[in-house]
Amino acid sequence: MSSKLAVVILAAGQGTRMKSRLPKVLHPVAGRSMIAHVVAAAGDLKPDRIVVVVGPGHEAVREAVAPHDSVVQEERLGTAHALATARPLLEGFDGDVLVLYGDCPLIRGETLARMTAAARAEPRPGGVVLAFRKAPPHEYGRLVLAADGRVERIVEHRDADEAERAIELCNSGVMLADAARLWDWVGRIGNNNAKGEYYLTDLVGLATADGLPCVHVEGAAEELLGANSRAELAEVERALQRRLRAAAMDAGVTMTDPESVWLSWDTRLGRDVTIGPNVYFGPGVSVGDNVAIRPFCHLEGTDVADDAVVGPFARLRPGAVIGAAARVGNFVEVKKATIEDGAKVNHLSYVGDARVGAGANVGAGTITCNYDGFSKAFTDIGDNAFVGSNTALVAPVKIGDGAIVAAGSVITKDVAADALAVGRASQMELAGWADRFRERHRRRDKGAGEGTNGKDGG
Ligand code: UD1
Ligand code: CA
Repeated sequence: MSSKLAVVILAAGQGTRMKSRLPKVLHPVAGRSMIAHVVAAAGDLKPDRIVVVVGPGHEAVREAVAPHDSVVQEERLGTAHALATARPLLEGFDGDVLVLYGDCPLIRGETLARMTAAARAEPRPGGVVLAFRKAPPHEYGRLVLAADGRVERIVEHRDADEAERAIELCNSGVMLADAARLWDWVGRIGNNNAKGEYYLTDLVGLATADGLPCVHVEGAAEELLGANSRAELAEVERALQRRLRAAAMDAGVTMTDPESVWLSWDTRLGRDVTIGPNVYFGPGVSVGDNVAIRPFCHLEGTDVADDAVVGPFARLRPGAVIGAAARVGNFVEVKKATIEDGAKVNHLSYVGDARVGAGANVGAGTITCNYDGFSKAFTDIGDNAFVGSNTALVAPVKIGDGAIVAAGSVITKDVAADALAVGRASQMELAGWADRFRERHRRRDKGAGEGTNGKDGG
């Protein structure tokens, strides 16, 4: 018994219905390309090899799947032909070959593991087909079962008669067979059918004829959703979001309105995290325990530590690191900056290329002026410093520990620890000036009013 496994992912489809310059399988769902999801599900099985069949000109797909091997199918002659294209790369490989589709990103490793288990059960089947039930079954291939429950053959919708079209057990396209037999069967598949294509599904009939019938494993229809159009892509996205939200809630996250929370494939949320409505997590976000993410926040490439409070209406961009029990409030944008433990940036600020020291308080409307049109510079705000409202910190600049910056300052020079910096025109006061000013105007209006019909009747 061999337990070696190679996975071949078919992804040479043009994806015409996407109407896109981007190859279909590179369209993202939950923050990464469809093909990356499929490669990851395959990876769950710890296969010895993963080979991806790509279309001509799809260099970007080859790059996306590297370091896994890929091969170009120059002419799109059908699924069996696509699989045959991968054969030279698997020369000498001895074990099971699992065939996946690059545009079915919802497939789960655990479902594939049920297939490998079925392949190893006695009596050994010729192959294993992943099926699902759908009513009506639309354009899918149908599984024709023998009396003993084994799969006799698969008939494509176009080639099916009325009785076969009534079958609701559909072919997902995912298939597994031993390499030596698989290549033999694939070599014998012809293209005498409605589409004139080499159908991989014909393998099942050949196996039956050779006395090695296939078995099937059933998966959830949702898991086998494919994305051929933008509308289907949105459907796949919704399904994946539902899955990600359910997993997060299972792990101890509260979502006030789960349907409006958008997660990425790699979003990590700790226990007792509370997420308000309309929160978006782009890729690369990790949130500690007991964090509150209030409504309408947008996070990406960010780490948030335990007990922090974020939002409402906060934008955390790549490189934002929010410390324990820190607060980032409404209309605050943080980019490539660390807000250390217990620090507060509560209102209307931009903090970029900066450090806000532990316990510091950054007042409303403070801006780190990090960009001069050519390059970025760093702002360092010390521990327990206090930056008054509406301050511009012109980087590079350093505010020492415990220093206070007066509101409305434009700070261009470093401020020493525990000092007060005031960087604004000093206030002057002229006693009685306002009264004299009004008096002057009253007199002038009176003079102008005589001889005219002044509005104020003066
Ligand atoms: C295929 C199955 C059908 C199944 C359905 C599930 C065949 C003959 N039919 O039909 O039974 O119900 O999938 O979605 O296999 N591909 C290539 N090169 C090719 C042709 C296809 O790489 O020359 C790839 C496509 O990129 C795609 C996959 O193979 O990822 C399936 O191809 P597609 O043309 O969509 O097959 P269907 O007609 O939908
Ligand atoms: Ca298809």
